[in-house]
Amino acid sequence: MSFVEYKTEGHVGIITMSREKALNAINDQVLDDLEAVLDGVDLENIRALIITGAGKKAFVAGADIASMADMPSEDGVKFGRKGNELFLKIERFPIPIVAAVNGFALGGGCELALACDIRIASDNAMFALPETGLGIIPSFGGTQRLPRLINVGIAKEMLYTGRRVMADEALKFGIVNAVYTQDELMDKAMELANRIASKAPIGVRAAKAAVNGGLQVSIDEGIEIELENSAKGFGSQDQRNAMHAFVEKRKPDPFINK
Ligand code: CAA
Repeated sequence: MSFVEYKTEGHVGIITMSREKALNAINDQVLDDLEAVLDGVDLENIRALIITGAGKKAFVAGADIASMADMPSEDGVKFGRKGNELFLKIERFPIPIVAAVNGFALGGGCELALACDIRIASDNAMFALPETGLGIIPSFGGTQRLPRLINVGIAKEMLYTGRRVMADEALKFGIVNAVYTQDELMDKAMELANRIASKAPIGVRAAKAAVNGGLQVSIDEGIEIELENSAKGFGSQDQRNAMHAFVEKRKPDPFINK
């Protein structure tokens, strides 16, 4: 049995963290299952992914505390490395990933959302990094991604105190792009993913690579990364189609990812 479900609707893939009895908490198997799903995504046809949590309560309530309770330090670091490698894979995944945060996004769950490109949330969502209250620190990238995303002082307050941030505050802090009712969330996530999927896939993928690559380096190196990525679009069939359609004042044919 897999703890991660996957289905597709048109050009969008929907990944559901499905360990509802433990509020979708992440253990070793969940990491393996999530990796297997990502490895199976058909990148020819799928143009955006959504990650959400099963049930009405939780996106992901963190790494599995029971499985970590008696871990020696080296095993803790090993688990952290495994999670980090997977979350880097998510961050660097060729197509955009939208986190549809439908409840608790705590510890590793908050970190999973942070590794995605865009976060939207339901009004019952809660973000927190409660690890210091458990005697550890976030080890799936939370100490690195949160301060890069939001005000450093707020990030440090969340890290040092485990402050719980509800959806409306998460919007104010810039953790999420939008907040919806629980009933609306998945429709809105699909709407956003479909809007991404309606654009030329080569362009969207190049934009993701350019933004992510550029965030790691100086502006001069970033401009070079942008130029390298801009080369991917020019000369593609989708670019010719879209630009000729503009010049000829007609709608472009649907994009074909070539
Ligand atoms: N690990 C393991 N099991 C978890 C879990 C977690 N992170 N979070 C919830 N569960 C389990 C509970 O043990 C419980 O199981 P049983 O029914 O078998 O007792 C079940 O999920 C339901 O949880 P609660 O009864 O606690 O539900 P609640 O509504 O009363 O509370 C909650 C919900 C506030 C999210 C609470 O469960 C909680 O505080 N969970 C832990 C959150 C947390 O600290 N996460 C960080 C983990 S550390 C980490 O993530 C490290 C890292 O960076 C990699």
